Amino acid sequence: MKGVLICGGYGTRLRPLTEITNKSLLPVYDKPLIHFPLEVLLKAGIREVAVITGPEHMDQIASYLGSGSRFGCEFSFKVQEKPGGIAQALGLAEELVDGDKVCAILGDNVYFDDFSDVIQNFEKGGHLFVKEVPDAERFGVVTLEGDVVTSIEEKPKKPKSNLAATGCYLYDERCFDIIRGLRPSARGEIEITDVSAWYMENDVLHATHLKEEWIDAGTFESLFRAAELARKHLHKDADVQNIKKKTKRTLIADNPSVSRT
Ligand code: G1P
Repeated sequence: MKGVLICGGYGTRLRPLTEITNKSLLPVYDKPLIHFPLEVLLKAGIREVAVITGPEHMDQIASYLGSGSRFGCEFSFKVQEKPGGIAQALGLAEELVDGDKVCAILGDNVYFDDFSDVIQNFEKGGHLFVKEVPDAERFGVVTLEGDVVTSIEEKPKKPKSNLAATGCYLYDERCFDIIRGLRPSARGEIEITDVSAWYMENDVLHATHLKEEWIDAGTFESLFRAAELARKHLHKDADVQNIKKKTKRTLIADNPSVSRT
């Protein structure tokens, strides 16, 4: 499976921060936003990643990510001339994906769940990751029967559910042909929701429910929330490590025969 990291758009809701850099390079507590979606791909064992972004800040993204050797993967870069939609951006990765399955993920989505097993076990059709939200009209909205998607709509005025399709998409090799057949929506974009809808109507579209909080960090409030959560998780991980170390020290003190390695 190949990864596609989509860092498009002008990030207008985050101006003036996004006047000087791409949204995905903005700080989320101790690291740039782009680390969160990148870690999803890396944790799932994906080693070839196409990075798609606009011409404005491609230089900064490429200079930050480099060849990928620092992250144990290989990046290739493609420019999306104008924001023409997430599906259009994904279409630019066709050459790299080269008939393989794909995990496309948005550069501003922050996940705290580990769903690597779902990515690794994906075989055919489409697969989404969904989360209950209070403001479903801002997102792609789905309804489910079990884990099968039964309806999907992009930013509906009257959402049929409170379940948002988050910005991580698993598709089989047919997605590029599907994208070629799509027409721009009313907002002038080739919609990723239309790709998912194709799978729902013509094959099967599954969904996994996220348990942890999920954030689309496109606004000041959500970017701030992402930083708060990142800090909390980092401290929780550090606490777990400290408890482990303390327990081991106590064990060694009480029983010198316990290995020190
Ligand atoms: C995009 C997708 C939408 C999805 C969201 C997740 O929205 O079009 O279906 O729910 O990402 O972050 P956009 O970023 O274009 O508002």
